[in-house]
Parts: sequence; structure tokens; C-alpha cells
Amino acid sequence: MESINIGLAGLGTVAQGFLEIFGQKKRVLSDKLGRELKIAKVASRSQKVDLEEFGAIFSTELSSLVEDPAIDVVIELIGGEQDALGLISAALKKNKHVVTANKEVIAKHGNSFRGEIDSGQLRFEAAVAGAIPILQGIGVGMVANDFSSITGIVNGTSNYILSNMSIEAASFEESLKQAQKLGFAEADPGFDVDGIDAAHKLTILMALAYGQPFSFDKVVTEGISHITSSDIQYASELGFAIKPVAVVRRSEDTLAAMVYPALVGFDRILSRVNGVMNAVEVESDYAGRLFFSGPGAGSLATASAVVSDLGLIARNQGSVYPSLMGTEKLGVSYPDQSTSCCYLRFDVVDEKGIFARITGALSDSGISIDEVFQKNRDGGRASIVMITHPAREKDLEDCLSNVGKFGELLQPIQRIRVLS
Ligand code: HSE
Repeated sequence: MESINIGLAGLGTVAQGFLEIFGQKKRVLSDKLGRELKIAKVASRSQKVDLEEFGAIFSTELSSLVEDPAIDVVIELIGGEQDALGLISAALKKNKHVVTANKEVIAKHGNSFRGEIDSGQLRFEAAVAGAIPILQGIGVGMVANDFSSITGIVNGTSNYILSNMSIEAASFEESLKQAQKLGFAEADPGFDVDGIDAAHKLTILMALAYGQPFSFDKVVTEGISHITSSDIQYASELGFAIKPVAVVRRSEDTLAAMVYPALVGFDRILSRVNGVMNAVEVESDYAGRLFFSGPGAGSLATASAVVSDLGLIARNQGSVYPSLMGTEKLGVSYPDQSTSCCYLRFDVVDEKGIFARITGALSDSGISIDEVFQKNRDGGRASIVMITHPAREKDLEDCLSNVGKFGELLQPIQRIRVLS
């Protein structure tokens, strides 16, 4: 049986998951793929895992993987940006195949590999939505389709945090700490809670679905750290869960891509995707609406997608990457002209006339209210909570910046979009 020699870079969470799967399934995988899989070398800062059972040579030098002519596939699981970028780039230039889980490098530097890919394939299924084979699904399984929208929950940590705040009535900080303990969170938690990690993943989905260059700088990103337990409670009373969504919509020749926390109606499956689970809902012309769901982070779940890419290389399946190498076919616009319904919370001094002033200002800006209630709180304070009818982003922003100056307001106005 012809063999494939693997060079593994990194010994972190996903790499350890990869070694665990490899240890348990090496024989089965080799039989299934018709190629003998062998881990020839492992490069990492320190050897924190016993490699004896794999017969792999250990090195602290990443370059040793690239320089070794016997290595066919480099699996990049070191994370971070610059070292990983250098490794991927050097390996491709040596015509090695590369498998990576590195969403940041692909989203930000994916276009730069254009001139570096020759006979080597670059695969990154594990970079988006963990275990879900979404890149295969969109890039191959649905290749006949045009996509009107892709809506995902693609950051397990922020989904875990908002779910935990809702189900366990835990605070934002407690929930983040728990996610970090479970190994889901990025080294810099800002990547998770500020929506950057989800924006990396949305960039990759967008490139694959629309055959576009990677356009990370065009994704509008809003984090979840301003969401409070009260918002989760009020949204629930109105029939919604609050979810960290990543959305790209096509309208004619333009794409609008955005990551934000959204109210999602309890009638949508997406509202019930909880914890570290990810999901991607795809609207397409021939296949209709498809819903993919599964664990979006974690050692073994993410490593499962790494092994899947390795399997495609072993089977000599062509990469989807060349289709991304074209020039931009669709413009990517900022979504400030779009319309959406919004959840608004105004924390005010409970004084006569404030309710009328707020609703009057909204009405003067042409913004109509769908549902509204007021909760009185201790100390003469009140929360006025509402859902608007669809309003233009810009109109609402202008109106709220005016209302934000009212003296009765105790806190900045909370605005959360409703997912349409
Ligand atoms: N921090 C990421 C998440 C890990 O929580 O989804 C998987 O990409």
C-alpha cells in the first residue's frame, strides 16, 4: 500500500485530538483510504505528548517539516497568524499538501496563496464550524446552486456564553471562564466575544459559496459583550433567543456580510442550537434551504474535520481552492442601507412623559413599533423594551443618537437586530 507521510505542526488542543483519533483509527483509516498513513514528524515548541506509539520524530523547528522531502502533507495546527502563515506558504512552495484549521490565516491571507499553490492542495475544513463538513457541503455537495443567503452560528464560545447565560442564568464572565476551561475559546477571548473568529469563518464561507476572493476587511463585526441577562430574559418574553450569528446575503450583484448578536424567533431551528454547537443554514436556488448542525469546537470534533481533509488528499480528490482564485465577481457592501427589525431597551428614570418622548421620537423618524412593554425597577427606574417594524439601519441610528441625549436615560440604549 502506498504511504502518506504526515508532518504535524503543533501539539495543542486540536493536535492532541488528531493524535488521539490517529492512535485509535490508523488501521481503519488506512484501509478506508487505501493509503498507509504515517506521522513522520511532529514539530512543536515543547514535546508535551508522548509520540512513541506513532514512531514520529520530534523537532522544535517548524522548518524541519518543510525541509524534509519525505513529508507529503503538513498539518498546521499551531494557530496564531505569522508563524502559521510562514509555514503554510513554505510548505505549498515545496509542493506539499497542507491541511490547516487556521481560520485567521485563511481569511486574512487566503488570496496570497494564489501564486504558491502548484501540485500541493490547501485544505481547511476544520477552520469553519468544527466537525461540520460545511466546506465540502457548500463547495462540492451544493456546487450546482447559487446562494441567496448563508446564516450561521459559527463561534462555539459565544454561543456557549449566551446559552449558558440563558439556561443557567449565569453571568457573562462566569460563562466565558467556563468556555475557556472547556477548551473552546481562542487564546485571545476577544476573538470569540468580539465576533472576530466568526468573521474569519464567514469570510471563508463567503469565498467558497460565491467563488470570491477572501474579503475579511468587508465583514462588519459586532460582539456580544454588551448583552445582559435582562436582554436575554426580555427577548425570551417576546418569543426570541439571542444568538451570535454570522450572515451573508446576496442582493443582485452585491454581498453584505455581518457578524452580530441577533434575536432569533423560537420558531427557527437556529434558536435551539445551544452550547458549543454550531449550525449553518443555507438558502439556495435548486437545493432549497439546508440546515447543517454539529459541534463547532473542541479537540476531537475539530480533529475529525482535519482527518476528513487528510482523507480527501489520500484519495487524491482535487481541491476546491482553485475556484477561489478568480477576481471579484460580486461587490461586497457594508449593510448600512439594509433594513431590519430591532429590539430596543431604554433604561430610564421613571418620570411622566418619558415613554411618550421616546415613542414620539421614533415616530418622527418614521420608525414603527411592533411590540412594547415597560418593566418598573427599584429606585424609580424603568426599562422600556420594544421590537420595531423593519427600519433602515441609518434612520434608526440617527434617531437613537438623538434619543440617547435625553436626560432621563440612565444607560446607553441597547439595540439588537432581529434575524429576518
Ligand atoms: N474559539 C472557536 C469557537 C474555536 O469557539 O468556535 C473553534 O474555531
